[in-house]
Amino acid sequence: MSSAVNGNANGTAGASASTTKVSRFDPAFTDKVIEATGPNANPRLAQVMPSLTRHLHDFCRENEITVDEYMAGVNMINEAGRMSDEKRNEGQLLTDILGMESLVDEITYKLADEAGDAPTATSILGPFWRKDAPRRKMGDTIVSGIENGDNTLMHGRILDYNTGQPIPNAELDIWHTAPNGLYEQQDPNQIDFNLRGRFTTGPDGEYHFYCLRPTSYPIPSDGPAGRLLTLLDRHPMRPAHIHFIISAEGYKPVVTQVFDRRDKHIENDSVFAVKDSLVVDFLPKEGDPKAQFDLHYDFKLASYEVAKRQGVRGATEVAP
Ligand code: BEZ
Ligand code: FE
Repeated sequence: MSSAVNGNANGTAGASASTTKVSRFDPAFTDKVIEATGPNANPRLAQVMPSLTRHLHDFCRENEITVDEYMAGVNMINEAGRMSDEKRNEGQLLTDILGMESLVDEITYKLADEAGDAPTATSILGPFWRKDAPRRKMGDTIVSGIENGDNTLMHGRILDYNTGQPIPNAELDIWHTAPNGLYEQQDPNQIDFNLRGRFTTGPDGEYHFYCLRPTSYPIPSDGPAGRLLTLLDRHPMRPAHIHFIISAEGYKPVVTQVFDRRDKHIENDSVFAVKDSLVVDFLPKEGDPKAQFDLHYDFKLASYEVAKRQGVRGATEVAP
């Protein structure tokens, strides 16, 4: 995209460049749409919508999008909406395969990092988190009714990023797929909330529980996101991973995943979410009848207090 066509992404200074360039289409139209915003608009929307409008209009002009193509896009969004409910989030899946969730995760983490406040690396939430996973006792297993899994003892500590001190009463919310590659809400053969759980640390910030060494799996392909992947000649696989939300009172929650180094898709995640510091080794475990593998990982949280002092955007928001 040339800058003359692209205009100024902030939608203000020099913003009319894209529309004043000699165009076969009405050059004043984009500004007219932007100027419709009223004086009492939500401030953040007033800041970002001119840019979004320019990018969308430029996209349509540059590619000479026809009404039929536009309607195909509208129908895809509507279909994603109809498919989505508490158990399925097709809209998020669509943005995931376009790399958007991973991009905004990178931006959010970078803002924190630039303010000197970069705890455990974050990664995308994805569309399969469910609220209200069962609270479990430390040391319990999240696995039920699965005979062919590689049982794993996962353990570590939840620490204050700034002081290195353990965080008591921190909550670790975990979820992953069964060996058949399905989350419980996708699989009628798993009990409700299987392979999910919430654990609370004691005074030493320590946690341990049994889960499975995860397997790689394809993201769902029975909706518009899957069709788009096929049309783009792309594979749907995610490398084996476990999801977490780590939270504690007074700390910014960390939404993240850890990824199995040995997975063959580690370099080409279909949703672009792998980060080096989140790649882990599952080690063989001896002498524990309940687990064949051992996984150690410490999570670090940054306090809201420090984040607020440093002016990190989002520092006062609550857990998703
Ligand atoms: C997941 O890891 O659960 C996931 C993330 C993005 C798209 C689909 C699935
Ligand atoms: Fe996942």
